[in-house]
Amino acid sequence: MRIGILTGGGDCPGLNAAIRGVVRRSVDKHGSLTFGIKNGWKGLIEGWVEPLGLYAVSGILPRGGTILGTSRTNPFKDPDSPLKIRDNIKKWDIDFIVAIGGEDTLTVANKMHEMGIKTLGIPKTIDNDISGTEFTFGFDTAVSIATEAIDRLHTTAESHHRIMVVEVMGRHTGWIAVYSGLAGGADFILIPEVECDTQHLADVLKKRHAAGKTFSIVVVAEGARCKQFENLVTQDDSVDEFGHIRLGGIGVKLKSEIQHLTGIDARVTVLGHVQRGGTPTAHDRVLASRFGVAAADAVHDQKSGSMVALQRQQIVTIPLKDAIAKPKIVDPKLYEIAQVFFG
Ligand code: F6P
Repeated sequence: MRIGILTGGGDCPGLNAAIRGVVRRSVDKHGSLTFGIKNGWKGLIEGWVEPLGLYAVSGILPRGGTILGTSRTNPFKDPDSPLKIRDNIKKWDIDFIVAIGGEDTLTVANKMHEMGIKTLGIPKTIDNDISGTEFTFGFDTAVSIATEAIDRLHTTAESHHRIMVVEVMGRHTGWIAVYSGLAGGADFILIPEVECDTQHLADVLKKRHAAGKTFSIVVVAEGARCKQFENLVTQDDSVDEFGHIRLGGIGVKLKSEIQHLTGIDARVTVLGHVQRGGTPTAHDRVLASRFGVAAADAVHDQKSGSMVALQRQQIVTIPLKDAIAKPKIVDPKLYEIAQVFFG
């Protein structure tokens, strides 16, 4: 079989481990030929395809980013693009596409499958917001980076008796915020799933300081909603090819509000893309490798329209349409546990 592999959407640590898993298993076990498609769906439109054999994936396991490059290209924006994709698939005689991506890439993969192009999905994203899988790879690394940052902010917050606001990514879900906040001992965590009242937050912080604590750590997800802020806080008015707004900036607003309501000196740290950079954790390398190997087997078994997923510690395949139906939001029970440590 001739298999084309692509990575789409925002990069994350573990992509190379997944690519390596697909190639190693497909070539060694199934005798397939593997090809790299450059820069996500854009590469399939433009015909940027090249052989991707065992030699090409040697040594890439610990590397962050993606050796294939990525883009947020939506091939259904321009009516000519699906036709170009068909032509390129024919030209390269590709039998199956393995699309490694988040919600957008997987939605396109499902549409391709419906068009009769054989496609299989592998879920990746630091946001951990894909339904049907307990975890996506990239998430554990992002949480580790955010937790380390919170640990470091603790010592400086303590020395200066300040409130430190830490803004983390996660788009419209608060997985990174809850996990890193819990792991880092945050005194309050704001997530998109639960609307926040800044007056309540200020009261919690004032009570904590009145009880003798001299510093506080507040973790805020970029997509969090506050009763007092009219809309989601965005970087600018632009949207990407899938119509997504660019979140970011709530930390700055929240810091000013907290300082105003509590009278306590506050600072903000926006972690940004550093959460997506660098080498993957061992957990992400293992999960990505497991997904990659399982994807190669699923391709061999002709499971077009499926996605590999982690359920009860086992790798399974589920319909792509179930995975993209709605984002996976933070379990309220997990947030309740985080709330135990507020204040
Ligand atoms: O989906 C991953 C993610 O890092 C989100 O957490 C964030 O909102 C977005 O991508 C940032 O996108 P970009 O890389 O286009 O700035």
